[in-house]
Amino acid sequence: MKIVLSLGGSVLMRDFDAERIRRFAEAIEEISEGNKVFVVVGGGKIAREYIKTAKRLGADNTLCDYIGIEVTRINAMLLCSALSNAPKVIPKDFREAYELSLNHNVVVMGGTFPGHTTDATSALLAEFVKADLFLNATSVDGIYSDDPRRNPNARRFDKIKADELLKIVLKLSAEAGGNFPLDVLSIKIIQRSGIRTIVFLGEPENIKRVVEGDYAEIGTLVEP
Ligand code: UTP
Repeated sequence: MKIVLSLGGSVLMRDFDAERIRRFAEAIEEISEGNKVFVVVGGGKIAREYIKTAKRLGADNTLCDYIGIEVTRINAMLLCSALSNAPKVIPKDFREAYELSLNHNVVVMGGTFPGHTTDATSALLAEFVKADLFLNATSVDGIYSDDPRRNPNARRFDKIKADELLKIVLKLSAEAGGNFPLDVLSIKIIQRSGIRTIVFLGEPENIKRVVEGDYAEIGTLVEP
């Protein structure tokens, strides 16, 4: 089975905790037995700090995106440091990632092009490599009808259709401070490519569970 795992920077890099990164690496190695695993690492808080400072210095959005991409790549290298079976090269695009996967069961990458986040990068990678499963590790335990950190009445979905999800994200992204585990572009890619997607609480011990289909309490299935 081919699996693409999107590992948000805020999920992986929490407090620069090396033990946490090691546990993620162990979980990735475990699911790579008999499977090809592509991991896309996000930028998290450090990327936001860099981008904020670059903006103050007059950088335009595209330059800020390039800065964000470099941070995702550094985070990817950190994860690679804890993986014994991944190449120490961080691919710059999907074709390089695919090529590396011919000789490795685990390939780790970061962002690719300006204009979107690693949500979209990982959905595009999943489409490109024809992944059987797209896993999105986030800081919440699935998809809610509203941001659960701001609205205690937000309803959690066990499963949701991509078009329904798109409506919620469009509504939330129009609101200031609106925060959602998947962005609009990634949902459109999930829709068009029909990838089976699970958004779940990004903890190392949850990775194997979702791969084995035990995601009901920790995530939401997005049906294309
Ligand atoms: P992230 O995808 O990590 O954003 O990329 P994030 O919202 O901080 O995600 P978490 O916290 O890890 O979940 C960081 C920034 O890098 C640029 C964007 O500016 C993005 O906000 N980026 C990333 C791109 O321009 N292209 C990419 O393919 C990836």
